[in-house]
Parts: sequence; structure tokens; C-alpha cells
Amino acid sequence: MENEGLPQSSVLNELESRLSRDFTHSSGRIIGSMCTCPHPLARKVYTRFLDRNLGDSELSPALVKLEKETIHILGLLLSNPKASGHIVTGGTEANTLALWAAKKLSKKNHCEVIVPASAHYSFDKAADSLGLKMVKVGLNSRFQVDVEAVEKSVNSNTIAIVGVAGTTGLGVVDPMSELSEIAVEKDLHLHVDAAFGGFVLPFLKELGFSVPDFDFSLPRVCSITIDPHKMGLAPIPAGGILFRNESLRKAVAWNVSYLAGGETEQATFAGTRSGASVIAVWALLKHFGKESYKRIVRSCMRLTWKLAREIQNINGLDIVTEPTMNIVGRKSGIFDIRRIAQELRLRKWAVSLFPNHIRIVVMPHVKWQHIEEFLEDLKNVVNELGG
Ligand SMILES: Cc1ncc(COP(=O)(O)O)c(C=O)c1O
Repeated sequence: MENEGLPQSSVLNELESRLSRDFTHSSGRIIGSMCTCPHPLARKVYTRFLDRNLGDSELSPALVKLEKETIHILGLLLSNPKASGHIVTGGTEANTLALWAAKKLSKKNHCEVIVPASAHYSFDKAADSLGLKMVKVGLNSRFQVDVEAVEKSVNSNTIAIVGVAGTTGLGVVDPMSELSEIAVEKDLHLHVDAAFGGFVLPFLKELGFSVPDFDFSLPRVCSITIDPHKMGLAPIPAGGILFRNESLRKAVAWNVSYLAGGETEQATFAGTRSGASVIAVWALLKHFGKESYKRIVRSCMRLTWKLAREIQNINGLDIVTEPTMNIVGRKSGIFDIRRIAQELRLRKWAVSLFPNHIRIVVMPHVKWQHIEEFLEDLKNVVNELGG
């Protein structure tokens, strides 16, 4: 640290110049991320209420009420007006809280959790930090978890099953009603990771598409992750953890006695946590209503389908599976997919690379013009590689 600080203008200038080298969502070049440009209203209220701390919640009863309303709205979206939960730092924290609750409520000593091979790596982190054994189960030909294998993996140590509603790699939805049947029969906690799909599937359904049941409408769905900082257009950090009822949430509640507001209960990993995040999510839910989210999802899906068709028209390339939501997996039986990703990155496309495919996420900041430019570069890359 310098002895004497710099004037604000030089600090700002330096930041502008240094950070201008980074990728921005608004450029349309980030086509492999589940985050997007936060909506202007969210930015506005986020900065306006930046000082609010939900960790010391007794200082802000009005804000606590806003968080409860936010969870209630998300609960209604996921078929449960009685859902209880929090806006947290992201899907990782939400998934970990869900498994923590399952562990705390189980009476077992060596807890095991059954997780699809397609699940996000946050479950590996959660299992490692919570001392759980994670049993990974393979996928069927549609990239969903193999339900028979799940059933066979249940043993006396199993405490929970995880299903994903919008897998990270391909946006696939696991057969949740079958997982629910197993969870009912074996008396297990079923956690649904709808970090991405939570802000897509309910709106797709309202748009008339056939969407399988995945939420609290299914018995034994005890918790759901739904992230406003993905398709909810909220600023980072804004994940969501919803429990089926208050007693599940209470399983991870902690009492803190010394805070300025007095005796406080926290049921998140973060102590001090952003009230501004909650306010921004509340503002967006109120401002958008279902209709605007439907419009956003419809527009992303239109581009997704067009992109999928165009990819299929390129020699040597194909899609991994028909998109369920605004995620396209692109594979090749001829070219090394890592090589293609490398070439695209050299051309300043921020694509996401999985072991057997490149993932394109058509987020709201991605417009058709960006996709056209991308397809042009993709065709050039394939031609150069000898397609
Ligand atoms: C399905 C799913 N769950 C959880 C997460 C983790 O979310 P975060 O990065 O907000 O912690 C992701 C991130 O992409 C995800 O795709």
C-alpha cells in the first residue's frame, strides 16, 4: 500500500483502462457462461442499498421481510407457497446447504449421497467439506441420470439423492418423478439442483412446452437450488436455496448472540451477507413478473434452436442432444473438440469446454448478430482444420 493515496480520478482511470481488457457480457463474446448482464433496475437498487447486511438481520426487519417475500415468490414458481429459504452467494452455497441439512437431519454415521455423473462440481466440494461419501451414478442415452443405477446405489448409509433440472453441460432434466418415487420409498432427502433451470423451466411450461415435473409438486423434494444470478438477470452474488418447509431450513440455523441487532439466527454459510442482493432479486421479480421472464426465455430459446440447426449444417460438427433449454452442446466425430475450442478462444470467443463437447449458453446478452459472427468464425476454424 502506498503511504499517500491516489486521487479518485486516477484510481478510476486506472481501473477503467486495466479492466477494459477483460471479456464483457455486453460484447456478446461470452457465449459459454451462465451469467449475464444484470438488468439496469437491479444495478440501481443494488448500489442504492449496498450497505445492507442480512447477517445482522435484527437491524433490518424490513429487509428480512423482503427476503421472505422473495423466497415466497420463488416458492410459488416452484409449486410451494410454504417454501422457506434464503438468497445466498450462488448455486455452490445453495447445494452445500441442502446437503448439510440432509446430513444434520439424518441419524446416520457414515452418510452417503447419490449424485448424477452430470452434477455440478459444487457437490464434490460439498461432500468433501461436509465429510459425505459421494456416490456418482452414470447417465442414460439421453444424458439423464440412470434411475435403475440410482435405486441400486441406495444402501443403509444413503441420506440423500440429487437430481439436476438443467445440467451444467447440456441443460438436461433428470427423471425427477422417478427419483421422487425412490426417495419416498427409501425415506431419503431429494435435492433438486435447478440453479440454471429454475428460471427457465417454469416459464417454458407457461409458454406451452412440455416440461417434466421437477419441483416441490413432487413428493419428497426437500430442497431446490434456484439461482437468480443466472437466468434471473440478478447481479452476482445471488443464488437461492429453498427448503420444502421451515423445519428443514432450521436444521442449518445457527444462533449468534453478540451482534448489534441482538440475538440473530443465520441459516447460511456466510455470516455477513449482502442485503443488496436480496433487494435486487425482489425488485426484478416484482418488475418482470412472469410475462417478462417468459419473453426472455422465449427469445433465448429461439436463438438456441437456430444455433443448433446451423451447427448441424456444418460439416463434421453435430449437436450432442436436442436442447431442452438455452444450452447447446456441440461435438465432432472428426475434429478434436479441444482444438476447436482453442482456436475459438484465440479468436476471442469465451466458449466453455467439457470432455466431449463445447458448451454454448445462449444467455439474454447473446444476440443473433453475435451468433452469426460466431458461426462465421466456427466455419473458418473447421475449414482450417480440414473440414
Ligand atoms: C447446475 C448448476 N448447479 C450449481 C452451479 C453452481 O453455481 P455457482 O457458480 O453460482 O456457485 C452451477 C454453475 O454453473 C450449475 O450449472
